[in-house]
Amino acid sequence: MSYIDAIKERHAVRNYLSKKIEESKVVKIQEKIEELNEKGNLHMQLIEDAGKTYNKLLNKVMGLGSAPSVIACIGKDDETLEERIGYYGEELVLFIQELGLNTCWAGTFNKMNIRAEVKEGEKLVISIAVGYGADHGKPHKSKTPEQVIIAKGDRPYWFNMGVEMALLAPTAINQQKFQIRLNEDKSVDFVDKGGPFSKVDLGIVRRHFEIGAERETAKPF
Ligand SMILES: Cc1cc2nc3c(=O)[nH]c(=O)nc-3n(C[C@H](O)[C@H](O)[C@H](O)COP(=O)(O)O)c2cc1C
Repeated sequence: MSYIDAIKERHAVRNYLSKKIEESKVVKIQEKIEELNEKGNLHMQLIEDAGKTYNKLLNKVMGLGSAPSVIACIGKDDETLEERIGYYGEELVLFIQELGLNTCWAGTFNKMNIRAEVKEGEKLVISIAVGYGADHGKPHKSKTPEQVIIAKGDRPYWFNMGVEMALLAPTAINQQKFQIRLNEDKSVDFVDKGGPFSKVDLGIVRRHFEIGAERETAKPF
C-alpha cells in the first residue's frame, strides 16, 4: 500500500476490538517511531497498554475508551513543536494504517494516566489511539479546494494533487481551518487560521500535501 492509498483509507476510528497488536507489528511501529523521532527531534512513544488514558467522560461518550494502545506525542518544547508533532505523527498514522490497524488523533485524554516518559524540556502535546477498529470509520465532510486555496493564475497539477490529499487530512473537530497559498515563484505556504490544535493540524495537512504533490515544502522546522 502506498501512502496515497493509506490517506484514502484512513478515517478516525473510535471503537476498537480488544485484540492486541501483534509483536511483529509492534516492532515495526517502534522502528518507525525511532526514525521519525530522530528526524523531528521528538520523543513519541508507543504504549501498548493504553490503561486508563481514555477514561474522561468525553472519551467514554465518543468511544475512545476501547482503544487498546496509544502513542504519546512528546517532543522538545519550542515554538515549532506542535507542527512537528502533526507532520511526523501523521506519517506514523499512515504507516500504521498500512499495517492494517486504525487510529484516532485525540487531544482529549487523561494526561495523568498515560504511562509516558516526559523528560526535562519536553512537552506532552497530544495522543493517538491505536488498535484494530470495530469499524473503519467513514469519510469526513470536507471543504472544497476553492475554500482553502489562495492562488492567482494557473495551478499546476502537483499543487492540485497536494490540496486534494490535504483535504483528506484529519483536523481537530474536523475544523479544516487552514489555507494553502501558491506563490508566484511556485513555493507553497500553509496558513494557520486558528482554533484548537490548529498548529498540529497544520503539520498534518503539510504532510498530506507533500505526499499528494510528491515534493517537499519549505518547513519552518
Ligand atoms: C489535532 C487533533 C485532535 C483531535 N482530538 C480528538 C479528540 O479529542 N477526540 C476525538 O474523538 N477525536 C479527535 N480528533 C479526530 C477528529 O475529530 C477527526 O480527525 C476529524 O473529525 C476528521 O475525521 P477523519 O479523521 O475521519 O478524517 C482529533 C483530530 C486531530 C487532528
